Amino acid sequence: MNTAETSSPRQVPLAEYGQRRQRLIEQMAPESIAIVSAAPERTRSRDTDYPYRQDSDFYYLTGFGEPDAVLALIPGREHGQAVLFCRERDPQKELWDGFLAGPEGAVADYAMDDAFPIADIDDILPGLIEGRSRVYYSIGRDAGFDARVMEWVNTLRSKVRSGAKPPGEFVALEHSLHDMRLYKSAAELKVMERAAAITAEAHCRAMTRSAPGLREYQLEAELHYTFMDHGARHPAYSTIVGGGANGCVLHYIDNQAVLQDGDLVLIDAGCELEGYAADITRTFPVNGRFTAPQKALYDVVLAANLAAIAAVKPENHWNRPHEAAVEVLSQGLLDLGLLKGTLEEVIEQSLYRPFFMHRTGHWLGLDVHDVGDYKVGGAWRVLEPGMVLTIEPGLYIPPHDQSVEPHWRGLGIRIEDDVVVTRDGCRVLTGGVPKDTAEIEALMAHEHS
Ligand code: GLY
Ligand code: MN
Ligand code: MN
Repeated sequence: MNTAETSSPRQVPLAEYGQRRQRLIEQMAPESIAIVSAAPERTRSRDTDYPYRQDSDFYYLTGFGEPDAVLALIPGREHGQAVLFCRERDPQKELWDGFLAGPEGAVADYAMDDAFPIADIDDILPGLIEGRSRVYYSIGRDAGFDARVMEWVNTLRSKVRSGAKPPGEFVALEHSLHDMRLYKSAAELKVMERAAAITAEAHCRAMTRSAPGLREYQLEAELHYTFMDHGARHPAYSTIVGGGANGCVLHYIDNQAVLQDGDLVLIDAGCELEGYAADITRTFPVNGRFTAPQKALYDVVLAANLAAIAAVKPENHWNRPHEAAVEVLSQGLLDLGLLKGTLEEVIEQSLYRPFFMHRTGHWLGLDVHDVGDYKVGGAWRVLEPGMVLTIEPGLYIPPHDQSVEPHWRGLGIRIEDDVVVTRDGCRVLTGGVPKDTAEIEALMAHEHS
């Protein structure tokens, strides 16, 4: 099953991390310092941790995967602007827990200008903050780290009578950094394309393995097999496999029910590759054949998906794809008799909301719900080349809704693709898994024969 290219680590070149740090430094005030912390390790149970996941902001600026590290960016510092604090090398510890880069490796292999042992940070960092009037950091994201920053600053405050100059201003780092993260580079897009291709292959595998009587988690296993087989060791978020009415539960992750003959199954799953997320949803018949009502409702969602994708282009604003999806879904609900009234009434009074209650997408990148403002100065953000977003309209008919005919009840359908804005429109990254009903049936029939 190796149709997607085999993954190798580090698609994003080392130099790019340095360029990102430089770009951020250029946006900072001259007499300032930025402090970015690695993610903490988190206990799952007693002696066992959750798989470690680096903080996305920290990783974006360093490519450094170890916990217990802090990056300081110091514009104009004579001995180097990019300083990393990290664990020291320790043969005894490395024998148990694996390789550590150490401060030497941070300079040699991660192109830091300077590096120190994390154990010395309380002695060294206040001296680096001294004389800097402004501190950029992610205020309020981690109470423990907030307290440490204040401790470093208070160390300086306690020395004002000896002439120390503590900073007077704290500024959220996110504004500049998250705007940078919103525009993906060519190297990032390459990784995201691969994450999307692996994820598409995984969804194809789930389609071909589907059969009545399986448990939902057995399809989850098929997806995760393909992720891992290609070196994407973790899903980017908890995999959703919802058979029948479970597809109407937006964040269904129980995944234990038996898949029933005649039901649809909704799968929302994406792998994480080199930190980057893919995010695909497909909905297909457990037994490989759509019933007439399933196909009718599915085709409305598909038309909404296609209309929204057609609205992804530079100069359109963020909300245009959502508006396009709402219009198609609303018209479809009217045509199928699930709603009554005029298209205008349905849209203006949001009468579609009992059946479509979420947005049509979100930014996608190092985080599945990626960073970046959706509005600028109170207005929807205009789409620009390099932005990556999802398009994910859906319709969910509550299983006990007496106001609709019985054959609609409990149908939950979402079709989600990942797209990158290009100069003249957009490119769909997730075309490797079919979404047309005939193509889905053909893929499933082929494998079942
Ligand atoms: N899988 C999360 C989402 O679709 O937003
Ligand atoms: Mn999703
Ligand atoms: Mn999504």
